[in-house]
Amino acid sequence: MADTLTITDNRTGKQYEVPVTDGTIKAIDLRQIKVDDDDFGLMTYDPAFTNTASCRSAITYIDGDKGILEYRGYPIEQLAEKSTYLEVAYLLVFGELPTAAQLAEWIDGVTTHTLLHENIKHLMRGFRYDAHPMGVFLSTVGALSTFYPDAKKVHDPAIRLSHIKKLIAKTPTIAAYAYRHSTGRFYVYPDNNLSFAGNFLNMLFKMTEAKYEVNPVLERALDILFILHADHEQNCGTNAMRAIGSSEVDPYSAMAGAAAALYGPLHGGANEAVLTMLRQIGNKANVPDFIKKVKAGEGRLMGFGHRVYKSYDPRAKIIKKTAYEVFDVTGTSPLLDLALELERIALEDEYFVKRKLYPNVDFYSGLIYEALGFAPEMFTVLFAIPRTAGWVAQWDELHRDADQKIARPRQIYTGHRTRDYVAMDKRQ
Ligand code: SDX
Repeated sequence: MADTLTITDNRTGKQYEVPVTDGTIKAIDLRQIKVDDDDFGLMTYDPAFTNTASCRSAITYIDGDKGILEYRGYPIEQLAEKSTYLEVAYLLVFGELPTAAQLAEWIDGVTTHTLLHENIKHLMRGFRYDAHPMGVFLSTVGALSTFYPDAKKVHDPAIRLSHIKKLIAKTPTIAAYAYRHSTGRFYVYPDNNLSFAGNFLNMLFKMTEAKYEVNPVLERALDILFILHADHEQNCGTNAMRAIGSSEVDPYSAMAGAAAALYGPLHGGANEAVLTMLRQIGNKANVPDFIKKVKAGEGRLMGFGHRVYKSYDPRAKIIKKTAYEVFDVTGTSPLLDLALELERIALEDEYFVKRKLYPNVDFYSGLIYEALGFAPEMFTVLFAIPRTAGWVAQWDELHRDADQKIARPRQIYTGHRTRDYVAMDKRQ
């Protein structure tokens, strides 16, 4: 049997042979299917890209039915247990686990860029005290493009790598400054003798003590959360990174757009929305009524469901386990029992079972973030920090892909066709 599709156009009786490669057909191969010479040719209509591959990528593999997630072939469960976020960032960018020497050089290359230009602090001071940290974060990432004009040289791999390191290094500092701004506290400079997660906690929570004491359990929990959030193939935010990056703009401007997409409550904003939802439910007695409303279409069970995972999100399993380790240090979250009851009922209910709605990465992560001392408004920023590694790795892969060019979808035009201008006195 040939790897082709034979298409019969019943409008004309013509037949077409279209090659099948990697489980796909090229949409452009449909353009030849016409009813007459004036016909533009057949297109596919796929709002939200539910069945469209936009690129070839070797970075992250997901099997939604089996709940499999692998970064460059390494199972997320093994990376969460044995690796660190910076090692995973190296893996995502370069495609292989680093040797000890490569990792040391990589960590040094990232760590030396944790500082922000002093003007960035003045820029952040322009935000209201109650500005949402995610709005501060994405604005500041975009503003960084004005500090690094050479970042426009997107075809130079060495220059791309220099800004990949800067973005990975500076996002925790931006996030910490946004948090300190929202609490009215002074900014804490990075301490490059601490780990990636340790330094982040230092910039967030250090007060007047000479040196911030990092709690190793919380430091490791944060690093595991960073590993779990690092990449997730062609999600909404990464699609934005690639679409904006395809115009050959610098990576800071592209990432501002990716962060903006992540900000949405259906995407990375869901972790904040889960806490809001749990607080609105209040206690276990209200769960049945809340579930009833969701099933009636009055709102969504935030932190549940996924476009790809039609089984339990493997990240949610690890986060749920990590939560208990954090609670041993911080004390349990009053909302944990409520979340567990919500999960128990939802997983037994036909509405959720039929739609294959399971907890996703955002369902339990907020409980940990809150136990670590973060306000819900910071949760999506905590997602954006590690997702930087995925965004820049995907952006770099885009620029290495000869198939790629500026993203410009077609449309089905549903509006008026040609008509004459109507003078004001003739309008209804
Ligand atoms: C992330 O893509 C990624 O990989 C994203 C992410 C990443 O790492 O980058 O994994 C991170 O964004 C996780 C998802 C976080 N979002 C939420 O938790 C918000 C709540 N979930 C949803 O809104 C929804 O499940 C989505 C957006 C995640 C997926 O939506 P889809 O694939 O477009 O599914 P859909 O909206 O078409 O829903 C299918 C059906 C609908 O019911 P019917 O119209 O068939 O009757 O399922 C229902 C939906 O109403 N449904 C839900 C639901 N999610 C889907 N019903 C109640 N609660 C929900 N959470």
